[in-house]
Amino acid sequence: MSLVRLVYASRSRLVEVDRRVELARILETARRLNAERHVTGFLMATPGGFAQILEGEAGAIAETYGRIMVDPRHDELRLLAQDVVEQRQFAGWAMAFAERDETTEFIFGLYGVSPDTEIFEQPLDVLLDLAGELANAKG
Ligand SMILES: Cc1cc2nc3c(=O)[nH]c(=O)nc-3n(C[C@H](O)[C@H](O)[C@H](O)COP(=O)(O)O)c2cc1C
Repeated sequence: MSLVRLVYASRSRLVEVDRRVELARILETARRLNAERHVTGFLMATPGGFAQILEGEAGAIAETYGRIMVDPRHDELRLLAQDVVEQRQFAGWAMAFAERDETTEFIFGLYGVSPDTEIFEQPLDVLLDLAGELANAKG
């Protein structure tokens, strides 16, 4: 059984007025389904986009990404990595979450994600470093 780490970025289709409610809904579903499938990871959100790291057994990741791909709440998905890895980076999280807001905008800014540069345009190495930094800040 191989452990896979998948990373993608996408453009958000959430409408500003409903964004908070929709984000909470996405997380609730993600955490429930991921817990059942032993999928872990990190979801990063900005007003314009998403970047997500998914970790788990190969079949569970393929199935989960298949559902995420066709979700109309985002589009223009870019699959950035799908690799066999030795261990999980976010083992404790059915889906950790960080949004660019007042408390995190400094960290996002350090990795080039500003109101002018979107998260879905960032390369893989930047997204992985940003996720690590945000996870550290969460403690
Ligand atoms: C940005 C984003 C991230 C998501 N992350 C996950 C996830 O980690 N796990 C998951 O099961 N569903 C996730 N979803 C929700 C799925 O797209 C889908 O709605 C959910 O799995 C239920 O699938 P179903 O409607 O086919 O039953 C995410 C959706 C979006 C827009």
